[in-house]
Amino acid sequence: MIDIRDLVKNYPPKKVLDGISLTIETGEIFSIMGPSGTGKSTFLKCLIGLNRPDSGEIFLDGRNIAGNLSEKELQEIRKKMGYLFQEGALFDSLCVWENVAFGLKYLTGIAPEKYFDVACEKLKMVGLEKSEYLKISELSGGMKKRVALARAIAPGPSYLLYDEPTTGLDPITGEMVAKLIKEMSEKLKVTSVIVTHDVKLAMEISDKIAFFQGGKIIEIGSPQKIKNSANTVVREFLENCSCQAGDS
Ligand SMILES: Nc1ncnc2c1ncn2[C@@H]1O[C@H](COP(=O)(O)OP(=O)(O)O)[C@@H](O)[C@H]1O
Ligand SMILES: [Mg+2]
Repeated sequence: MIDIRDLVKNYPPKKVLDGISLTIETGEIFSIMGPSGTGKSTFLKCLIGLNRPDSGEIFLDGRNIAGNLSEKELQEIRKKMGYLFQEGALFDSLCVWENVAFGLKYLTGIAPEKYFDVACEKLKMVGLEKSEYLKISELSGGMKKRVALARAIAPGPSYLLYDEPTTGLDPITGEMVAKLIKEMSEKLKVTSVIVTHDVKLAMEISDKIAFFQGGKIIEIGSPQKIKNSANTVVREFLENCSCQAGDS
């Protein structure tokens, strides 16, 4: 469970996160929605310790991780968190299975001779068997997302964090990614946090959605509640985006 209290992060003079409080229950698919520049990625980076908040608390499984953390403590957090970067961030110089196995040495105690088997097993989970020796440059956009996902799940995290997982994909691939996120959530029993401006994705698979605007949460609840929101910003966002879900 992730419990966030009054999280503040500024890039002076800009206030980016201006007092965010929310709870993400274990096993939930929780989406953060909102226009560009409202601090969604900043929020996600605070969760994995890449950004240090100015104030506030982030309780990860009961432990506050918002303070000064040692490298060892950061590593403990990263073991729990699988992170899917917006750009995929795959290594072009490594083949598919080497990309998937990349975090195993740093994040797990798995013996090196087992890395290949672990990578193949994860690739199978995301529907990419028999592609272990392909180069990254040989993959389509959808395949790259699958490889990035296989890499994120390889160390066995309890949380999977996705930053704009469907941005830049065509609608069919976007739909495939939505299904995969849902599938990973069910099969691996992980807690999923998705940052997205893809209304269709968020509405389709989330248990709960928080809508960010100007560094604050202006609406939070089930997809139905967001859909029925009386807030003008939320309404306008949904109306303008529903016809272009998946666009960047
Ligand atoms: N490292 C940084 N230094 C300065 N400003 C930043 C940095 N990271 C993000 N920002 C600013 O914070 C705001 C929120 O950014 P971001 O969290 O990426 O928004 P979103 O993901 O919602 O589009 C933007 O105005 C951005 O320019
Ligand atoms: Mg972002």
